[in-house]
Amino acid sequence: MRAVIAPDPGGPEALIVTELPDPEAGPGEVVIDIVASAVNRADTQQRQGFYPPPKGASDVLGLECSGRISEVGAGVTGWSVGDEVCALLAAGGYAEKVAVPAGQVMALPPGVDLVTAAVIPEVACTVWSNVFMVANLQPGETLLVHGGAGGIGNVAIQLAKALGARVVTTAGSAEKVELCQSLGADVAVNYQLEDFVEVVKELGGADVILDNMGAKYLGRNVSALATQGRLVVIGMQGGTKGELDLGTLLPKRGAVIATTLRGRPPEEKAAICAAVVEHVWPLIGEGKVKAFVHEQIPFGEAPRAHELMESGSHSGKILLSVDAG
Ligand SMILES: NC(=O)c1ccc[n+]([C@@H]2O[C@H](COP(=O)([O-])OP(=O)(O)OC[C@H]3O[C@@H](n4cnc5c(N)ncnc54)[C@H](OP(=O)(O)O)[C@@H]3O)[C@@H](O)[C@H]2O)c1
Repeated sequence: MRAVIAPDPGGPEALIVTELPDPEAGPGEVVIDIVASAVNRADTQQRQGFYPPPKGASDVLGLECSGRISEVGAGVTGWSVGDEVCALLAAGGYAEKVAVPAGQVMALPPGVDLVTAAVIPEVACTVWSNVFMVANLQPGETLLVHGGAGGIGNVAIQLAKALGARVVTTAGSAEKVELCQSLGADVAVNYQLEDFVEVVKELGGADVILDNMGAKYLGRNVSALATQGRLVVIGMQGGTKGELDLGTLLPKRGAVIATTLRGRPPEEKAAICAAVVEHVWPLIGEGKVKAFVHEQIPFGEAPRAHELMESGSHSGKILLSVDAG
């Protein structure tokens, strides 16, 4: 099969298409003939050598895919050859085939075509697991989501609104602020022009913050938390080492949590996928949550797709069509 790897760390040109042996379905796994995948920030970090795949996972990039099941391993029930599915992967999405634990395979969300379904597993699982399973956002609470115009941000805004929360978000341009408002954000702050902390404080503070910036925003996020607020850090775009002011956090009885989805064991990922199918798929079916595709790029042009993500000029998701070569 053809697959995209980055044998030597570097810029987008480090990505190459290579021939690898076809994967086989081990016990509890299925093989998917991939139709599409998508670019995630983690892929760009992996390409640069900062984010190796979890132990035992392949070097092929790609955290999600859609396609048709072509092989069913021993002990798998509920899936058959030919089923159209999407899947959350530890690695291997930028390829023609992937083997994946059956618990990470999901039926297509209602009303979503096979190609577009590729951009949904990573954002749906990340947002649901962090905002709802970890931080337990409740109807009527306020969510601050940084980077509302990005892949994760788009879905976080829509899901939180659909489930009755108030949403404040940050974005880096007037156009992206407008996009966030059109997705339902109650307040969208242009982070280039305005300090989000003051805006959020005036609203009574954030009960939950979904943060992609890490160190750069740690102090400001803690300041923006409401009493009993929960800050969940999922990205480190602003660095890894910051100073935590416990004097600000303690009187709020606040929590700072940092998580990653990719490194979780398959059984935890399976539980998240099951929760996503139960809670998120119906909202997609009702048209309350959509994943937006900024551009569809053939996976052979993965370097261009990474350049686009790193330029920051995209909104929503960048889709890689695997069958188009
Ligand atoms: N821990 C996990 O399990 C997990 C899983 C998936 C994703 N993530 C993380 O989630 C983040 C988003 O991923 P993605 O795939 O959605 O990438 P993406 O589409 O490229 O989104 C990146 C976002 O960062 C925003 N941003 C850049 N500088 C900012 C700043 N100073 N303040 C606020 N926002 C800023 C961008 O906003 P503008 O475009 O408006 O400038 C953009 O919305 C990444 O950090 C990724 O590593 C973590």
